[in-house]
Amino acid sequence: MSSTKQSVTVIGLGPMGQAMAGAFLDRGYDVTVWNRTPSRADALVARGAVLAPNAEGALASNELVILSLTDYDAMYATLGPAASALAGRTLVNLSSDTPEKARAAARWATERGAVQLTGGVTVPPSGIGKAESSTFYSGPRQAFEQHRPALEVITGRTDHRGEDPGLAALMYQIGMVMFWTSMLSYWQAISLADANGLTAADVLPHAVETANSLPGFFSFYAERIDADRHTGDVDRLAMGMASVEHVLHTNADAGVDTTLPTAVVDLFRRGMDAGHAAESFSTLVGVMKKAEA
Ligand SMILES: NC(=O)c1ccc[n+]([C@@H]2O[C@H](COP(=O)([O-])OP(=O)(O)OC[C@H]3O[C@@H](n4cnc5c(N)ncnc54)[C@H](OP(=O)(O)O)[C@@H]3O)[C@@H](O)[C@H]2O)c1
Repeated sequence: MSSTKQSVTVIGLGPMGQAMAGAFLDRGYDVTVWNRTPSRADALVARGAVLAPNAEGALASNELVILSLTDYDAMYATLGPAASALAGRTLVNLSSDTPEKARAAARWATERGAVQLTGGVTVPPSGIGKAESSTFYSGPRQAFEQHRPALEVITGRTDHRGEDPGLAALMYQIGMVMFWTSMLSYWQAISLADANGLTAADVLPHAVETANSLPGFFSFYAERIDADRHTGDVDRLAMGMASVEHVLHTNADAGVDTTLPTAVVDLFRRGMDAGHAAESFSTLVGVMKKAEA
């Protein structure tokens, strides 16, 4: 640590961790890596990274430690046995998990003399090291500012959401609930197309056009939802109810899985049963918020 050269440790060498360590090497950093399965470090070592003999050695090598693990349980499995080397370290945890797990891990790190910055990377491995890519961060702002140049190597854009270590995880999960359900809706559409003799390529232009129309709907409804205004002037839940039943029956008639369209019909029906037939289908936000409460 006496060298003036910038240096960093990356623990966890899945596709994301490998891309991150590679981005640091590209920028001339001294990079120490560690991974449960050592062979995943081979290509990075060939490019000049140093493979630490164990997690303790990886922590001891640098003050700045990037964690890119499957989840926070993997972090405890990795760092728990090496906890004596945690004091004085800044852990940038870019592993996905719940806001509550991120908060508990920040307390765990503090108790061992380390600082945790939580991160939520919004791009796949191909976006790592790119100026236009972005990551949510939360946790101590001072640690964020101190390490901002290194964080900007991972993604050029960084968005510090606040001191609460759960906030970055929350923003990440807000994106992921949309990503997973949207992608499943695409798989559903492709399954329906396939049952009718159409390929994914056949329906791609229509799928893209449909997806591209969504941001306009997001903006239109965001203002109304924040104002708790669900007037049925442009759409009515009763119309939506009929439409989602057509979707369900079309998929059932085609013999494809109906789990997803059935769940959609169930939510619309609950809105109808609650007496919202004449209001916009945005009123379902209220139905879903009450379920959470
Ligand atoms: N891939 C993406 O497109 C993407 C995009 C944004 C965010 N993320 C998030 O970024 C994180 C890393 O992504 P990834 O695709 O690189 O994940 P991954 O393929 O799941 O790899 C993560 C790493 O976790 C390690 N690991 C898992 N369980 C462990 C355990 N019990 N003990 C020690 N090490 C353990 C793996 O080690 P081994 O090699 O030994 O299995 C591997 O190095 C995830 O939280 C993911 O949700 C991913």
